Amino acid sequence: MHQDCEKILFSHEEIEKRCIELGEEMTTFYQDKKVPIVVGLLKGSVPFMSELIKHIDLDIEIDFMDVSSYEGTESVGDVRIVKDLDRSIRDQNILLVEDIVDTGKTLAKVKELLYQKGASDVKIITLLDKPSRRVQHVEADFVGFKVPDCFIIGFGLDYNQKYRNLPYVGILKKEIYIK
Ligand code: IMP
Ligand code: MG
Repeated sequence: MHQDCEKILFSHEEIEKRCIELGEEMTTFYQDKKVPIVVGLLKGSVPFMSELIKHIDLDIEIDFMDVSSYEGTESVGDVRIVKDLDRSIRDQNILLVEDIVDTGKTLAKVKELLYQKGASDVKIITLLDKPSRRVQHVEADFVGFKVPDCFIIGFGLDYNQKYRNLPYVGILKKEIYIK
């Protein structure tokens, strides 16, 4: 275990197992629907998305989007597109992949944005859900694991861009971010 990690919440094996289940669930869910474009939100979704799509048995396409959140003077967070999608998503089903849903501000905005671009349906799949922190009313349609209100690292999740490559999901030691 990494020295900055307080505790492992989900091991690599547990994550792999959950990704198989979720992939199979996606296969069944989209079986009789238009095959979705799987859209990952950079950078946190990358490890989860790589693991997940191996188990979706449909002719999906993948794409990525990068947004940066900033808070203006209003209380509602706003997002800026840093990297846009490569293709048009008009009349397409979108499966949006996230690493974690925390306050829900990012997802609420991105979901709205995808509908503005003409998507016919947007479903959200997230590796982790921190429901205790929700501000915006946006729920993931599919959740890997629920996590407590702690700072989470690993399997895509970072603190100052570090720890994304950890093969497990864990809690960051408080002394690392409280100085
Ligand atoms: P939201 O807009 O508050 O839901 O923020 C979601 C984004 O914040 C996620 O995509 C993560 O990038 C980041 N985030 C939220 N909680 C954590 C955490 O515990 N560890 C690392 N990143 C987090
Ligand atoms: Mg993120």
